[in-house]
Amino acid sequence: MESVGIALRGLEKRFGEVAAVAGVHIEVPPGAFLALLGPSGCGKTTILRMLAGLEDPTGGEIAFGERVVASGQRGTVVPPGERNVGLVFQSYALWPHMRVKDNIAWPLKVQKWDSATIARRVQEVLALLSIDHLADRYPHQLSGGQQQRVAIARTLAPRPRVLLFDEPLSNLDAKLRAEMRTELLRVHRASGATSVYVTHDQVEAMTMASHVAVMRNGQVEQFGAPGDLLRIPSTPFVATFVGTPPANLVAAQQVNGRYCYKSVDLGESNGVQSPLLMYRPEQLRLANGPGPRCLSVEFAEATPVAGRVIVTVWDERQRINIVTDQLPSYRLGDSLYIEFPAQPDAIFGQDEQTLAMGIVPTLA
Ligand SMILES: Nc1ncnc2c1ncn2[C@@H]1O[C@H](COP(=O)(O)OP(=O)(O)OP(=O)(O)O)[C@@H](O)[C@H]1O
Ligand SMILES: [Mg+2]
Repeated sequence: MESVGIALRGLEKRFGEVAAVAGVHIEVPPGAFLALLGPSGCGKTTILRMLAGLEDPTGGEIAFGERVVASGQRGTVVPPGERNVGLVFQSYALWPHMRVKDNIAWPLKVQKWDSATIARRVQEVLALLSIDHLADRYPHQLSGGQQQRVAIARTLAPRPRVLLFDEPLSNLDAKLRAEMRTELLRVHRASGATSVYVTHDQVEAMTMASHVAVMRNGQVEQFGAPGDLLRIPSTPFVATFVGTPPANLVAAQQVNGRYCYKSVDLGESNGVQSPLLMYRPEQLRLANGPGPRCLSVEFAEATPVAGRVIVTVWDERQRINIVTDQLPSYRLGDSLYIEFPAQPDAIFGQDEQTLAMGIVPTLA
């Protein structure tokens, strides 16, 4: 089965007054791994359900390759059963009375494959998911992670050309989740399908996807490769949603041709009156005492990560993340200073939408 590109063109879905999806344009090539990333309620699942054919758009259209499969004007053009999509949800929904191998064989039986071909295909996907040894067990004899593998194997068995995932890893513990990320990516590549993966976890999106659409309020806030989103976030929302830890924003004021925040001097103004200045966590420093570029803050926590430390402080009710080399000896609630660099990494205009300027270092 050849994989296909997917195009969403001005896609809309209204539920009465609610515009769950409000004009989404996304296009990815065959074999892409597209992540739809965004907070709860931004329309991710609704897009997935329209791709699967479980909902019809109220506007715009969806195309798999050259073929329009659904449109706001014509409704369902290609019925769900003929779209050749596979869905993986958070809940595994295995048949409790069937052994693993029969669960996997089931969709092939429904499609009336002959039994020799079914047996061969079941073996293939069991091997692909490394669950050969579980073939004769029943679902209740499996761990959550194993059940998820069986569910994925069952989805892959009929060779779907589009794979749809809705937060498939959110029921798993952190370690298993990290393992399954790699695993799912391997499965995606081996299947040759084009995948759409819904998540609110930016780490999943940034580590797995070839393309990421950051969504907010039913719209795409930014679409690009993970590296692009980190290097050049096009809105403050994206800047504070992606990255580990994400970037910091400071609401500055223009005074005498300079930007300042409280008593801190943040460098020369570029003319935007009340901008949001973006600082990457690695550009900020912990300081010993007051200074013209130093802000008094309160210590919250320090998290060692891969030989470095993410320090989180409070500036009133705003969290600020700083990456340092040393574990600091502050305790919760201690006062300290952070020092800003001479220039911000980016400046966003007051309407929160324009990137007024980007002083963007290349990431190592
Ligand atoms: N059948 C429906 N009827 C009415 N409103 C709906 C329906 N389905 C979804 N919505 C609304 O559409 C919006 C988008 O919902 P959707 O399920 O797509 O969000 P989501 O991004 O998947 O969120 P989550 O991360 O919480 O799963 C929400 O405001 C939701 O309440
Ligand atoms: Mg959802």
